[in-house]
Amino acid sequence: MIIILLGPPGAGKGTQAGAIAEKFNIPHISTGDIFRANLKEGTPLGLEAKKYMDAGALVPDDLVVRLVADRLTAPDARPGALLDGFPRTEAQAGALSEYLRSSGRQVDHCVCLNVPDEALVARLSGRRMCRSCGASYHVVYSPPPAEGRCRCGGDIYQRDDDLESTIVNRLKVYHEQTSPLVAWYGQAGLLRPIDGQGTVDEIKNRIYAALGQG
Ligand code: AP5
Repeated sequence: MIIILLGPPGAGKGTQAGAIAEKFNIPHISTGDIFRANLKEGTPLGLEAKKYMDAGALVPDDLVVRLVADRLTAPDARPGALLDGFPRTEAQAGALSEYLRSSGRQVDHCVCLNVPDEALVARLSGRRMCRSCGASYHVVYSPPPAEGRCRCGGDIYQRDDDLESTIVNRLKVYHEQTSPLVAWYGQAGLLRPIDGQGTVDEIKNRIYAALGQG
């Protein structure tokens, strides 16, 4: 089972991903998380990706495609994977189809979370993350249990790309380069559009229903 989680920055992909991956017993593969983990370790990949992420731009296709293809060869990804934040361009989508075809697999569903831009800006500008376990909070919608401290005890921080000026560019990049994938997967009969507004549980149940697990 290969499931793509598509949607603009802040649509709730990371928030929903853990439950979906667990339900289908497949690994959650987030390209953004992989870049951030590399940056934390100070690897050349992380430092290269940071230049694009801080500007709200996309990391070059060839780099991302190699990274995902490599990750999909790991034993835990043999039964499938939940791809969060990949593909993000038509070139990445084409490369993914080609790669999966070569290993006798295919994309099964593309879940697209739809949220209006005004709500996305509010979600992203208020998002806070745990430096230790990666948990995501929001200063208003889901504040951490104690000021500046995660439930795991880790420090809470704001992502560099969650500054308002960068958010505007990330949304522009999404509309220009990623939103064409909605039609791409729609034409392939794989698109599962989901209303991404409501409580986290409501949205999770809509996703399960769209995937035949309601
Ligand atoms: P990435 O990490 O993938 O970021 P993104 O797609 O911009 O998505 P986000 O993580 O910002 O949002 P999300 O949809 O996961 O929302 P979340 O659940 O956190 O990518 C970062 C960068 O890496 C890119 O800009 C690019 O540079 C690079 N990159 C990554 N993949 C790439 C690729 N394939 N190609 C090229 N470059 C790539 O929720 C957001 C907030 O809203 C949280 O505070 C949350 O608590 C809150 N929230 C969630 N659900 C709800 C709800 N129902 N109601 C109210 N609040 C909610």
